[in-house]
Amino acid sequence: MEKCLVFCFSFITLFICVKCSLPPPCDSEIYCSGPILHHMQEAKLFKDDKHFVDMKLKSPPGEVLAAFQTLLNEWPNSSIPTEKLQEFLEANFDKPGTEFETWMPTDWQEKPRFLSGIADEKLRLWAEQIHGLWKSLGRKIQTSVKDHPELYSQIFTPHPVVVPGGRFRELYYWDSYWVINGLILSEMTETAYGMIQNFLFLVERYGFVPNGGRVYYERRSQPPFLPLMVESYYGATGNRQFLRAALPVLETEYRFWMQNRSVTVTVTGSEHVLNRFKVDADLPRPESYTDDLELAEGLSDEVRRRLFVDLKAGAESGWDFTSRWFINASGQNDGTLRDTRTSQILPADLNALLCRNERLLASFHRLLGEILTSDLHLAFSSQLLLHED
Ligand SMILES: *[C@@H]1O[C@H](CO)[C@@H](O)[C@H](O)[C@H]1NC(C)=O
Ligand SMILES: *[C@@H]1O[C@H](CO)[C@@H](O)[C@H](O)[C@H]1NC(C)=O
Ligand SMILES: *[C@@H]1O[C@H](CO)[C@@H](O)[C@H](O)[C@H]1NC(C)=O
Repeated sequence: MEKCLVFCFSFITLFICVKCSLPPPCDSEIYCSGPILHHMQEAKLFKDDKHFVDMKLKSPPGEVLAAFQTLLNEWPNSSIPTEKLQEFLEANFDKPGTEFETWMPTDWQEKPRFLSGIADEKLRLWAEQIHGLWKSLGRKIQTSVKDHPELYSQIFTPHPVVVPGGRFRELYYWDSYWVINGLILSEMTETAYGMIQNFLFLVERYGFVPNGGRVYYERRSQPPFLPLMVESYYGATGNRQFLRAALPVLETEYRFWMQNRSVTVTVTGSEHVLNRFKVDADLPRPESYTDDLELAEGLSDEVRRRLFVDLKAGAESGWDFTSRWFINASGQNDGTLRDTRTSQILPADLNALLCRNERLLASFHRLLGEILTSDLHLAFSSQLLLHED
């Protein structure tokens, strides 16, 4: 277990003491912590740190860890030559991307109706090209990921996903809101349905939606757009049965944001529960391991840990990264990436989103005839508004 860290901070009217012994980004001793991750990333075998943590294990983690221990014993000063690391990697890992089957969305069609509504020819061609992207961004995860999750960093989800593309070869939370709206415009409601089912599946498993579909994202989320995804889908299909099944899961996610991502502030005598991004996980982000280590160089132990936590909170915000989260030593919004203090800010956009979600949940309950729960959510949403009487 990591050494315990105690720190206090104050910001505006917040005054909070946190005593923490934080867990790593995930429990895997290969993908999220431990000597293999450290040596492989420090050796910079690939241009992008995400490459290594997306590789599949060829044998069970225990065996791979034991084999690496042998290597460490051979090189006690821990200066394992790069060729040895390379050899180890080839013997024990497969390249990224092997966990997918090729998959074509079954509901894709050449000419969805929206295209004929675009008068400008250049714009219409552009829209057609974007519509064509669905064919190359769809992915289906092999069932072997479900049967042997310990061999993969990829998190199994039962339905096909549309990925952002490039180095982002897994689903992402808030990106998917716009993807789903695009799919609906392309009349691909079946694919949109599957994506939403995946997110509901993740909430049932984790209690919230992880940042993305990898184990190294499993202790952080992203701006909560799941209720809006459900709204978009319901708006397109009017499927009440879908809404009824989704609603308890949306409530679970909502509880996560209210219990695990909130603070109570007192303004002119009245209390308000407001939300923030905050990730309770230590260590550098596995997928940006050396970036985080280099950024933290020369900082004290305590400040370094705090930075690792706030960089993850920055990733959770979806704004990774931005000067919005820079707070310098005198508490001013001025500084550099090293001054990232995401968890010390109550972002207006996140709070507006939570307010929107409360009103949405209220309207879903009302639609399904659950008036009492509906009123409760409305009461909460008005509590969020600092200046409402
Ligand atoms: C580390 O140990 C290995 C094997 O004992 C040796 O060959 C190598 O020169 C050592 N490197 C350093 C920097 O001491
Ligand atoms: C939220 O916080 C509670 C209480 O601190 C904790 O027991 C729970 O595990 C947290 N949930 C998640 C999903 O992190
Ligand atoms: C923080 O930023 C403010 C505003 O630019 C500046 O006046 C102050 O000197 C800075 N403090 C530190 C410790 O850098």
